[in-house]
Amino acid sequence: MIIRTIGIVGGTGFVGSRLANELTRSGYRLRVLTRRRERNKHLLVMPTLELIEADVHDPAMLGAHLAGCDAVVNLAGILNEDGDDGRGFQVAHVELAHKVVGACRSLGIGRLLHMSALNADPAGPSHYLRSKGEAEALVRAAASDTLAVTIIRPSVIFGPADQFYNRFATLLMLAPGLFPLARAQARFAPVYVGDVARAMALALTDPQSYGLAYDLCGPSVYTLGDIVSYTARLLDLRRVIVPLPDWAGRLQARLLEFAPGKPFSRDNFRSLGLDSVCTGAAGLARLGIVPTPVEAIVPGYIHRERRGGRYGRLRRLTGRRAPTM
Ligand SMILES: NC(=O)c1ccc[n+]([C@@H]2O[C@H](COP(=O)([O-])OP(=O)(O)OC[C@H]3O[C@@H](n4cnc5c(N)ncnc54)[C@H](OP(=O)(O)O)[C@@H]3O)[C@@H](O)[C@H]2O)c1
Repeated sequence: MIIRTIGIVGGTGFVGSRLANELTRSGYRLRVLTRRRERNKHLLVMPTLELIEADVHDPAMLGAHLAGCDAVVNLAGILNEDGDDGRGFQVAHVELAHKVVGACRSLGIGRLLHMSALNADPAGPSHYLRSKGEAEALVRAAASDTLAVTIIRPSVIFGPADQFYNRFATLLMLAPGLFPLARAQARFAPVYVGDVARAMALALTDPQSYGLAYDLCGPSVYTLGDIVSYTARLLDLRRVIVPLPDWAGRLQARLLEFAPGKPFSRDNFRSLGLDSVCTGAAGLARLGIVPTPVEAIVPGYIHRERRGGRYGRLRRLTGRRAPTM
């Protein structure tokens, strides 16, 4: 299969920007579809990247913009929805994946990389994990002689501009001395965004990856409590991390749904009921990638959280870029 032009849905975010970088450096032409072109102009510096504003939920428009692509990458995803009934996750994860598969089939596109998440499972404990699991199932079912699919299932992803270490850094800076933490014992194997992008780029052209799912984990496992303490240490902050019992964690999640940027939700709390660690064959090793440790990367960007004062931190929490960025 010869791949020259790749359509990317959900390619404007944290992972997408890194993947676009990786793919344009390898000479691919990219068509990145976005609902808001104006907000994603940072991607335009990449010479072979076309940034297209489109309603990706409209099958006709999706098909029109993916026509002529040799492969499609679906990275679209959300961590929180409005409300808590699962509808937002269904639309962003399941219905969109269905439309992307449909576009590949009707346009005769032979290659699809689909981004899922570790623990995705139609019977999972949260709307997020169930919708990711349902999307995986429909993508697997779409695999055929004419459509080669590969599914990527990372643990939490770190790197500059992540929404994990950076978010805890912001919250730690805003908090007074005590830092109440729900699900402090939940375990993660954070994986570097550069390794995730590399894995996706390698899998794209590797026939051995057709029909497979890759669980992507970093080299070490940490509890959420470890991660927050480490972030506080990097920022030179004295904070007492207070692990919350589940009843208080649920209450905290409910209250933080009303905070700017919804930094934590009941659905996040439910997802944290499962450890986000690799149990089977590690996907990065299967692709010949040595996972990058947290300690080699996070100290290099986390100090930026100190910039911009309280206002800047609140802007970051609500997902708004600072005017100078
Ligand atoms: N970051 C992690 O730690 C992590 C871990 C495991 C799995 N993942 C998965 O990796 C993928 C990329 O994550 P990320 O961290 O790069 O996320 P991100 O920075 O928030 O970017 C999300 C992307 O999805 C698109 N999107 C969001 N809501 C959408 C909707 N309702 N309909 C259509 N498109 C929508 C956005 O496109 P617009 O330009 O249109 O806004 C954006 O390009 C997601 O599927 C996520 O679930 C991430």
